[in-house]
Formats: sequence, C-alpha cells, structure tokens
Amino acid sequence: MSHRLDDRRARVAAALPLHDALLVVGAGGPVPLPEGSDQTYPFRAHAEYFYLTGEETIGGVLAFDPRDGPVAGWVSFVPQVTESERYWEGRTQRAGTPIERLTDWLSARAGRNIVNLGAPWRDLSSDAAAVGRVREALTQARRSKDGAELALIRRAVAATAAGYARLREELRPGVSERRLQIELEAEFFRHGATRTGYGTIVGSGPNSAVLHVEPSARAVRDGDFVLVDAGAEIDRYMADVTRTYVAGTPADFQRDLYQVVLGAQERAIQRCRAGAEWKEIHLQTAVDLVAGLVALGVMRGNPTALVEREAHALFFPHGLGHMVGLGVRDASGLHPGRTRDPRPSLRSLRMDLPLAAGQVVTVEPGLYFIPELLREPGRRERFHDCVHWERVDALIGLGGVRIEDNVLVTDGAPDVLTAGIPKGL
Ligand code: GLY
Ligand code: MN
Ligand code: MN
Repeated sequence: MSHRLDDRRARVAAALPLHDALLVVGAGGPVPLPEGSDQTYPFRAHAEYFYLTGEETIGGVLAFDPRDGPVAGWVSFVPQVTESERYWEGRTQRAGTPIERLTDWLSARAGRNIVNLGAPWRDLSSDAAAVGRVREALTQARRSKDGAELALIRRAVAATAAGYARLREELRPGVSERRLQIELEAEFFRHGATRTGYGTIVGSGPNSAVLHVEPSARAVRDGDFVLVDAGAEIDRYMADVTRTYVAGTPADFQRDLYQVVLGAQERAIQRCRAGAEWKEIHLQTAVDLVAGLVALGVMRGNPTALVEREAHALFFPHGLGHMVGLGVRDASGLHPGRTRDPRPSLRSLRMDLPLAAGQVVTVEPGLYFIPELLREPGRRERFHDCVHWERVDALIGLGGVRIEDNVLVTDGAPDVLTAGIPKGL
C-alpha cells in the first residue's frame, strides 16, 4: 500500500460519520451486453472503490473497521482469478486478502451496523439513511484533489490539448463530424490516453444545438458552427473540454454570439474562488449571457429580471458546469446538508456548494437555438415579452456555442488547467 493511499484512507476515515459502523465498499462487476454475446460493457470499478484502492479489481471489496485504526482498519478483499479468466481475458491476480475471508471478517464483527458504499456487495441490509450520510461525507472528502490526482488530470489535459490541435488542422468545409472525432481521439491515444472520458461530441451546423450529440457522417458546411466537446482519460482521470469553431468564414452574428459566450465564460472563471457559491456564479453568468442576447436584439428586457423569470433557460438550458477528474461528473452534487433548489431552470445545475481550494470544476456556459425549446407554444406564450421571436425564428438552424474549460480552484486566482487549448472561432 502506497503512502499516498494510506494518507487518503486515513483522511477519509477521519471524515466519515461511521460512529461504530463497518464500511464495505464494492468495486462491482462487469455488466453483460443484453444479447448474450459473451461480451460485457467495459468494466470500471465504482469511483468510490477506485478512489480508496487505485485498483480496477473486478469483484473487489474494501472493508474498514474504525476500531482497528485509520490505517490498519482497512482490508482489501480480492477474488481469486480463475484459469479461464487468465487465458480469455488476461486478468491477473490482484494483491489482497482472498474474498472468501470477507464473511469471516464480518462474522467476527457480528451485530455491528454495516454501511455499504460503492457497488453494493451482496445484501448487507444497510440503514439507507446512514448510507446517505456516509456517502455524502465521502463525496465531500473526494472533492478537493490531492497531488497525485492533479498530476493525472494535467496529463489528461495535455493529451486533450494534442487532440484539439490535431482536430483544428483537419477542420474545413467538407470534413465529416466522424472524421473530426477520429482524428481527435487518435491523437488523445497517441498522447497517452487510456480511454476517452465520455462519448465525444462533435456537432456541426444545427447539430451544434444538440447538447450531447453523437458525431455523424454529416459533412461540415461552409459557415457552420462546429461544436466539439471531448476529453482524454488517463488512469481514470479525465479532462472535459469544449471548443466551438466555424468552418470557413464566420458571419458577423456568429462572431457576436461567440464573444457573448466567451466574455461570460471568462468572467465566470474569474469568479471561481474559494468560498464562492457555485449557484451564484451560475446565475451571474446567466445574467451576463442574457445581457449579451439583449444587446444582440435576441432578447428584450432587464437581464436580471429575465433571469429571475428563468427566461435565460430558453437559450442556456444547462448548468454552468460540474466537478471533473475521477469521472466526468466526479464528486458533484450538494454540499452536505443542502437540498435541491426546486427552480426548473436549475434542474440541470450539477452542484450547489461553496467552492474550495483543490477542487477542479468545468466552466461551460453556452447559448443555443434549440428548436424543441423555442418552438414549444407554452414557452412562447410564457416568454412572449422576453424575446424578439421573429429574430429567433430566423436563427433556428444556426446551432449553438459552448466553451468549456477545467479550472482548479486555489487559495488565490483560479488556475485554468485547459488554458493551453486555444479558443476562438
Ligand atoms: N461532456 C459533457 C459535459 O460537458 O458535461
Ligand atoms: Mn463537456
Ligand atoms: Mn462538462
């Protein structure tokens, strides 16, 4: 066991409200594809297990007894790898205590409450409220990254930057979204990526307004927006970056829209300081975006009042961002003790917490002309006085702009980890 993991576990042990309960964290197992083809979805150990072990052990279980101490109390149970697993899959035996001994470990502690995190291991009849409290504390403990995590994120960012540089060379009218994806991802892998962090998004023209669009065979046309949202992953840690370009020469309105998003994004990044409330940064950014749309003759009214009426969600229907690192949403969510804000426009806000040094967040405002939202009669009625609808109708089909960077919150100025990936149309 490395000192780094010992330190991490001791810190987590001190942070968890286990009282006298036992903690059992399961890695989980591979999920078979439904058609019975002997294939499984790629295995990824549950992030809670990976965080505490640094291992992708199929069927592994990490157990902790607080009575045995913050370092000695942790025991890693691992399954015995079978002969067929060795020669079909190349699995190797992981170090640890044989999993068969977990039952004895639990029996020796009979009568104690058990909190089962990660992928639940068997039916350990946990108290759901206790599980919720301990998970909340573990999530909070995972939020500020340690040095080893930051080093991996920085490597993932470097591979991501190489991919974007390659894609930029390839981008021209006539190239397909798929081709751009292939060039981008191949460069990630050439620069050390072990996977992509999530499904790469490449949307051209109207597809740039589909928030999580999959790249298609569509050939990019002259004057199209091309929105690319992708990140390399290295040893489970990833980047999550979006850039929007125009193939060929941008129109004036495209430049103006881009500047509105870029300006709002840069102001949002500067607000990412320890102690700042994420929801406030999101809402301030919404005001900045709406002010830009008012200046462009798309919306009308007072920007702050328009955001209070939630009119911004017509064009900015997602949250400002989330945590990133060990997973594309990493340890996002609510600060301990908070409940979700019920406002509809905050439904996709991935976190509600005060920022703290060491956290890595995405800052990803966007403005889109989404036909499903803008043609819906109920919204047009509700927001009839907030929008120049005839202008908007002419813009449907243009797509959208999103710009996303990964920002390390520090005790001082924000550190933009992805600053080396050029912005600009
Ligand atoms: N890549 C998905 C997102 O930006 O959250
Ligand atoms: Mn993204
Ligand atoms: Mn993101």
